[in-house]
Amino acid sequence: RIVRREDYAPPAYWIDTVDLTFDLDPAKTRVLNRMRVRRNPDVPAQPLRLDGEELNLARVLVNGQGTSFKMDGGQLVLEALPEGPEPFELEIFTTCAPEKNTQLMGLYVSQGTFFTQCEAEGFRRITYFLDRPDVMATYSVTLRADKQRYPVLLSNGNLVDSGELEGGRHYAKWVDPHRKPCYLFALVAGDLVCRSQPIVSRHGTEHLLQIYVRQADLDKTEHAMQSLMAAIAWDETRFGLPLDLERFMVVATGDFNMGAMENKGLNIFNTKYVLANPATATDTDYANIESVVAHEYFHNWTGNRVTCRDWFQLSLKEGLTVFRDQEFSQDMAGSPSARAVKRIEDVRVLRTVQFPEDAGPMAHPVRPDQYAEINNFYTVTVYEKGAEVVRMMQTLVGRDGFARGLKLYFERHDGQAVTCDDFAQAMADANPESELARRLPQFKRWYSQAGTPRVQARGQYDAEARTYTLTLRQSCPPTPGQPVKEPFVIPVALGLLDAQGHALPHTERLVVLHEPETTVVFEGMDAAPVPSLLRGFSAPVILEHDLTDDELRTLLAHDTDPFNRWEAGQQLALRRALAAVRADGPVHEPLDAPFLEAMRTVLRHPTLDAAFKELVLTLPAETYIAEQLDAVDPQRIHAVREAMRRQLAHALHEDWVWAYEQHRDNGAYRPDPVSAGRRALAGLALQMLCLAARDNGNPVWPGKTYQRFKDATNMTDRYAALSALVTAGHELAARALEQFHARFRDEELVLDKWFALQAGAPDRGGDALPRVQALLQHPDFHLRNPNRARSLIHTYCHANPAGFHRADGAGYAFWRDRVLEIDAFNPQVAARLARALDRWKKLAEPYRRAAQAALQAVAAHEPLSTDVREVVTRALAD
Ligand code: ARG
Ligand code: ZN
Repeated sequence: RIVRREDYAPPAYWIDTVDLTFDLDPAKTRVLNRMRVRRNPDVPAQPLRLDGEELNLARVLVNGQGTSFKMDGGQLVLEALPEGPEPFELEIFTTCAPEKNTQLMGLYVSQGTFFTQCEAEGFRRITYFLDRPDVMATYSVTLRADKQRYPVLLSNGNLVDSGELEGGRHYAKWVDPHRKPCYLFALVAGDLVCRSQPIVSRHGTEHLLQIYVRQADLDKTEHAMQSLMAAIAWDETRFGLPLDLERFMVVATGDFNMGAMENKGLNIFNTKYVLANPATATDTDYANIESVVAHEYFHNWTGNRVTCRDWFQLSLKEGLTVFRDQEFSQDMAGSPSARAVKRIEDVRVLRTVQFPEDAGPMAHPVRPDQYAEINNFYTVTVYEKGAEVVRMMQTLVGRDGFARGLKLYFERHDGQAVTCDDFAQAMADANPESELARRLPQFKRWYSQAGTPRVQARGQYDAEARTYTLTLRQSCPPTPGQPVKEPFVIPVALGLLDAQGHALPHTERLVVLHEPETTVVFEGMDAAPVPSLLRGFSAPVILEHDLTDDELRTLLAHDTDPFNRWEAGQQLALRRALAAVRADGPVHEPLDAPFLEAMRTVLRHPTLDAAFKELVLTLPAETYIAEQLDAVDPQRIHAVREAMRRQLAHALHEDWVWAYEQHRDNGAYRPDPVSAGRRALAGLALQMLCLAARDNGNPVWPGKTYQRFKDATNMTDRYAALSALVTAGHELAARALEQFHARFRDEELVLDKWFALQAGAPDRGGDALPRVQALLQHPDFHLRNPNRARSLIHTYCHANPAGFHRADGAGYAFWRDRVLEIDAFNPQVAARLARALDRWKKLAEPYRRAAQAALQAVAAHEPLSTDVREVVTRALAD
């Protein structure tokens, strides 16, 4: 049942054209699939094996004649097919039941509208097919449905015909001129409205952009449309990649397993990544929409025009496309400081989510070697670490060199299904003099070796010789199935500062590590410098250094690299957190005066951006602190971080008041980085002021926060105020939560926030679990809706460590029950939840034993999906 990369073999047949006719009905949809098929002459003759899942087969015809067939483990096997290379007609008639499709893979119904999700292996739930990305065909699609209930009928490509049918039904015929793998097929049928935008490209071609939503959501589509237009313009300008479609459609659904899907010309999105207006969406939502809309659009080239040969190559399209959307968002952000803020946010995700994955039981290379269920490998490793690998290529060949490499990649592979090797080869071949080309086979270890490399840096100043010698050693811990790692190619961007924080001229360089140990000597140094290493986070590694607190404070105050300024502050905070976690006895005050003074200096700094200040003043996450430890006591980590937050709140009280007053007013809402940064800092200030009020009982700031909650003119400010009250556990929180619910009871995405805020709120005396259990019974809680389930259950299990890791194990029992309950109808959502116990082996007792028991209970359950089974089996393996 394990699929292995090394077993790849080309398909025995090609499918050149597909003509699909759908008679849409929620209970029983009829699908007529007429294909032109031919044998692959490069492969020995063998039967045709078509994938299928939950289909009712009514008829199979070959060249119009009945034929013999058999079923084998879900596959439809045809043995008596015409011999020779000539194409033949294969006609398959099946039915399926979209309204019973709770997995949300294949064809399903959401709020009365039909949607599809075919990546990775959902097309086989629509019709029998060679459901693999290297089989590319030309599609024409006819949709028939009741006209009143389904006035809008959409599929990929261009609308070529439409009209009335008998019995109140109508039809639409779509033809997609581009060949595509079946995972990019899509259809939508329902009662939707759209925002339309005609555009003219730089080359004078005309296109129609459309965003389809439910009538009530039309006023929330402007930002997505703006983002789409910006993404189209950016891809033309930066990479010379134009829109190749007459029509580009985006459709939003409230029931979606993932973020969004890049179906050719017909992207289908989770509403969370489309809908926004100032009253319902936060700055974070606006930023996410911009990047996900761009991400899916960018797939039109990196994913659709050139696709993956097999699913092991997933990062070929995902790593590259995440890199592209990150670059897009940085370019949109504008100023160097705003670009750095975006970079810091991206690195924070990588380090708090991907590094733990790379150190845990699900660790896998960016290009995995095996899987039981491919849906389990839509991971932060394939996506975010994959993007870092592409970013390192750009670092090694330069920005222009990277654009050249991408150009060559399309010249060579447009219209093909290819591999990660093909991409790296094009990059290297377009830049033959580069360090990438010189070390390509070694660089590609980033694709084959799992685990986060460590780089240990030691500096030695020799006063007599006036030299500074920097030694960089790399290593990588073993991961499941990979006991020994070979050295990586690691680009380390660095520079030196003097003790006063001035940049030392001519010390900036890119050192490319490729051996276990590398030494760099700087000459003519009058005094010991302060090294600024791994600037901009130039490689996805863990940097270990022995800088003193003084040196870190120098970097925090003066480094020219904003990323490393932020990182120095995080290091200072992390050291104090770890010392307090490791100390014996009750948690006291982990923060010292010099640290608090350094934080005050940043907060009060006259020229730093508010967004950057907010990042510096935010302490490292509990999960990030936990990763640094061998035996994790989540309660102690929580207590330490809370103590640190309270110290920051009290010691900087006057400064927080100042920060709030300075940043509270931002005029009419616009989601630009400058005003968003100001709102973020004002929000953090309120958090701190409410936290301080909790200790001193002074009602002034909770009162002001409540007032701001009520008066807010946008969701960012309203939610920040609400969250400050809830996080501080203030008595006004209950009233505010109730008012929030009453006001937004008809806004699904806002209700998701309402559930998530309560599920993630700090645990006080074990109150988080009962709170979550009560919310499970709330009339607005719908377990089958993935967004709602995630907002409550996943938030509690993944993002509330102290609430979840209870000494009595009740959090794990809750996890076990929800995993099994959800697995019975949606394995993908269940498998994501299952991963909340990935790091159980690091837990201290009594958590460890209780977590293991919960995992064993899930593993022993029958039935269990392949998805969840793979996750828990790997977690329990030694
Ligand atoms: N290709 C989509 C994206 O990253 C993700 C689709 C994943 N779907 C799934 N069922 N695994 O934009
Ligand atoms: Zn993607």
